[in-house]
Amino acid sequence: MQPTAVSPTPTGAPRESAGPGNAADASRQDQEAILSARGVTVGFGQTIVLKDLDLDVYAREILGFVGGSGTGKSVLMRTILGLTPRRAGRIEVFGKDLDAVDSEERQSIERRWGVLFQQGALFSSLTVRQNVQVPMREHMNMSQRLMDELALLKIEMVGLPVSAADKFPSELSGGMIKRASLARALALDPDLVFLDEPTSGLDPIGAAAFDDLVRKLRDTLGLTVYMVTHDLDSLHSICDRVAVLGEKKVLRAGTVEELMHFDNAWVQSYFNGERALRRV
Ligand SMILES: Nc1ncnc2c1ncn2[C@@H]1O[C@H](COP(=O)(O)OP(=O)(O)OP(=O)(O)O)[C@@H](O)[C@H]1O
Ligand SMILES: [Mg+2]
Repeated sequence: MQPTAVSPTPTGAPRESAGPGNAADASRQDQEAILSARGVTVGFGQTIVLKDLDLDVYAREILGFVGGSGTGKSVLMRTILGLTPRRAGRIEVFGKDLDAVDSEERQSIERRWGVLFQQGALFSSLTVRQNVQVPMREHMNMSQRLMDELALLKIEMVGLPVSAADKFPSELSGGMIKRASLARALALDPDLVFLDEPTSGLDPIGAAAFDDLVRKLRDTLGLTVYMVTHDLDSLHSICDRVAVLGEKKVLRAGTVEELMHFDNAWVQSYFNGERALRRV
């Protein structure tokens, strides 16, 4: 089997104020933070990737997470999920301090989050239906019949034809693999989904369709979406807020409009640079 995603995951609870302060954060301070990270520091050997990072994710928002390649976006996601250890800091998900929960609470938190990883999204030796059932087997005690029905429901929910259910990942297009991975992330009806570059490698029409799907799922299921992306179209079209990772921390979180006025060289070249202007 290929290394791949296990079922996912995380958080949330009301907290004092949000991390990086700005107008958007200030206006949301009374909202429920479903995920809060404070003072998170992560490193590998001598290299520190994240230092004293603060971040809040609010219930039912679509948060875009951007930053240059190699700045630590995937590392942060894996740290929140508990797959990469942190050297310092506190992470709360669904109001629970992840360091303070026992294994039963941890399991119940993991049942409430879903993950679409950047790499190796599906087990290559399992069909789409079987992939979607992986989290069900891991976390629930369901009959095969019920798992089959639920898996089909998720497969249809993400816009895949029923005929895709019995296909292996090698028989799917890139866009279909993304959708199948999303179906697996949704397997346990999560409250929060983590998507790591879900539209990378898709053509613009496929990426726009995926964005529409994510927005529809948020609107209909009340999902909170944490989406790492490089896709400017996604940021503009579906993200309520965008967090920018740089200098080992979240430099700013706010609406795209606010970020366009944020005086930072990387942010300016990203949101107002040549590529952004071509997009307009
Ligand atoms: N397991 C690991 N061991 C050592 N270094 C690692 C490990 N995982 C990630 N890194 C390093 O941490 C840094 C951040 O990596 P990460 O994958 O989070 O980048 P990213 O922001 O997601 O980039 P991209 O946009 O290209 O996906 C990189 O320098 C990477 O080499
Ligand atoms: Mg990454």
